[in-house]
Amino acid sequence: MAKLIFRCSFAVLLLHQLALDFEVVVSTAQPGNLATPPPLPVLPLPNYSQLKWQQREIIMFLHFGVNTFTDSEWGTGKESPAVFNPTHLDAGQWVDVAVDAGISLMILTAKHHDGFCLWPSRYTDHSVINSPWKGGHGDVVGEFVAAAKARGVDVGLYLSPWDRHDRRYGHEKAYNEYYTAQLQELLTNYGSVREIWFDGAKGANAPNMSYYFGDWFGMVKELQSSINIFSDAGPDVRWVGDEQGCAGSTCWSAINRTSLSIGNASIVQYLNKGDPKGTDWIPPECDVSLRKGWFWHKSQSPKKLNQLLEIYYNSVGRNCLLLLNVPPNSSGLISQLDIERLKEFRSAINTIFSNNLAETCLVTVSSQRGGEGRGFGPENVLDRDHLWTYWVPDEANTKGQWIEIRATDHELSFNVVMIQEAIGLGQRIKRHEIYVDGRLVAEGTTIGYKKLHRLEIGAVEAKRVRIVILKSRKLPLISHIGLYFDPYWHPK
Ligand SMILES: *[C@@H]1O[C@H](CO)[C@@H](O)[C@H](O)[C@H]1NC(C)=O
Ligand SMILES: *[C@@H]1O[C@H](CO)[C@@H](O)[C@H](O)[C@H]1NC(C)=O
Ligand SMILES: *[C@@H]1O[C@H](CO)[C@@H](O)[C@H](O)[C@H]1NC(C)=O
Ligand SMILES: *[C@@H]1O[C@H](CO)[C@@H](O)[C@H](O)[C@H]1NC(C)=O
Ligand SMILES: *[C@@H]1O[C@H](CO)[C@@H](O)[C@H](O)[C@H]1NC(C)=O
Repeated sequence: MAKLIFRCSFAVLLLHQLALDFEVVVSTAQPGNLATPPPLPVLPLPNYSQLKWQQREIIMFLHFGVNTFTDSEWGTGKESPAVFNPTHLDAGQWVDVAVDAGISLMILTAKHHDGFCLWPSRYTDHSVINSPWKGGHGDVVGEFVAAAKARGVDVGLYLSPWDRHDRRYGHEKAYNEYYTAQLQELLTNYGSVREIWFDGAKGANAPNMSYYFGDWFGMVKELQSSINIFSDAGPDVRWVGDEQGCAGSTCWSAINRTSLSIGNASIVQYLNKGDPKGTDWIPPECDVSLRKGWFWHKSQSPKKLNQLLEIYYNSVGRNCLLLLNVPPNSSGLISQLDIERLKEFRSAINTIFSNNLAETCLVTVSSQRGGEGRGFGPENVLDRDHLWTYWVPDEANTKGQWIEIRATDHELSFNVVMIQEAIGLGQRIKRHEIYVDGRLVAEGTTIGYKKLHRLEIGAVEAKRVRIVILKSRKLPLISHIGLYFDPYWHPK
């Protein structure tokens, strides 16, 4: 190697001397043992806040308010604040439950459509101030934020634009002033807020009411620089287009912002799949409730473990974030049944993904950027870094590049294949296939931050697993590969 390099630089030197008067084009290969630079990014790219968001994988929603006490999903706005009386409210318990479930961000409904505010807003008396809870001196948002901070969990808030209580609703300017003022209260008095949720729901009594999203978003960014704004149209993270926690099997983080609008039912398919030609990085978030309803109802119980795992594979396993709603009950606590189900869910995920069978295998590739030892080899797909170290094939042949995992002694038995793309340089892969011992067992389109293939044919025994990248925007970059056995998966 060293000899070769010496000869190369010697040749370059010679060329230089011979060609004094014109530009010499020499090999672009790096001299010595310097690393080859990474390929150029393929736009659009995530920014810092979006990358941090993506790595959370599962976050928690908490729907809590007057509906919790009236057994309803959409309050009318006529509820008396007197109904809000959680006898044992303990936000610390909510946070403990989230931490045990491996969750690092929790989003609370500061105000839902009924208009009742969980914090003592200066701009309305329809709030905790007029409730019996803590004699009207309580602040649920404050307690929630303090409890989360104590355990290092980040917070997010939802402030419903639709307000069925406030008289200003329907009077465009007055209501938008009221709403903007409440946003300012929430985003200045409670420290750092990492996500804020907007939807476009409107009252039938005021179908023409305009929400001043432009003003609101500007205000939000001014007050919280690292926040992610969620809505149908981003600007930072987008709705996935359904409330079942199910992303498209093709799912691009990119989309065209100019084609989006908030509360437009005709774009749900587009939101679900994204756009390979999209100019904006606005990745999808999958909101779904642990129970049937968003609010707690005595009559409802949490979804079964296999339903939750299905949701996990269809959201986290399809390049999305899972926003799982866990509604506190009328005592102000997360119910025991929900706690147990979340524990089962976390323990199932840990069980499935604790043992990557690929780690004991040999990994070979069709080619690698810059040749061996230049930083883009197959060893990168098995290290701990799932973002910034990755395998890159050689420039020359972008079609049919492959990476193969080969067992060194006995056969591998698995039913899940995980593939991750180095999205820091853009989402690229458009089509891929998985072969075991030469047999096609799964095919797919996009990969993105994480793709989980739960094999339809069930568990396979094999010595060789080959992932073929058939189509990609420029070079494909694979940051991680895993082969797992999911004991909960029993395909029909
Ligand atoms: C809303 O706007 C439409 C079209 O401009 C109009 O026909 C309708 O009367 C308006 N509705 C209300 C409740 O103002
Ligand atoms: C991150 O990117 C989104 C989408 O392009 C943009 O709306 C947002 O302002 C960016 N955030 C930061 C902190 O740059
Ligand atoms: C809703 O989306 C469709 C499809 O993109 C578009 O044609 C229509 O103009 C949008 N409507 C509104 C009110 O933005
Ligand atoms: C999104 O924008 C790009 C660039 O302008 C364009 O090529 C593409 O066709 C757009 N996608 C859709 C679905 O209109
Ligand atoms: C709420 O959940 C707690 C357990 O965390 C339980 O002790 C309490 O009885 C529940 N309240 C209601 C009204 O079900």
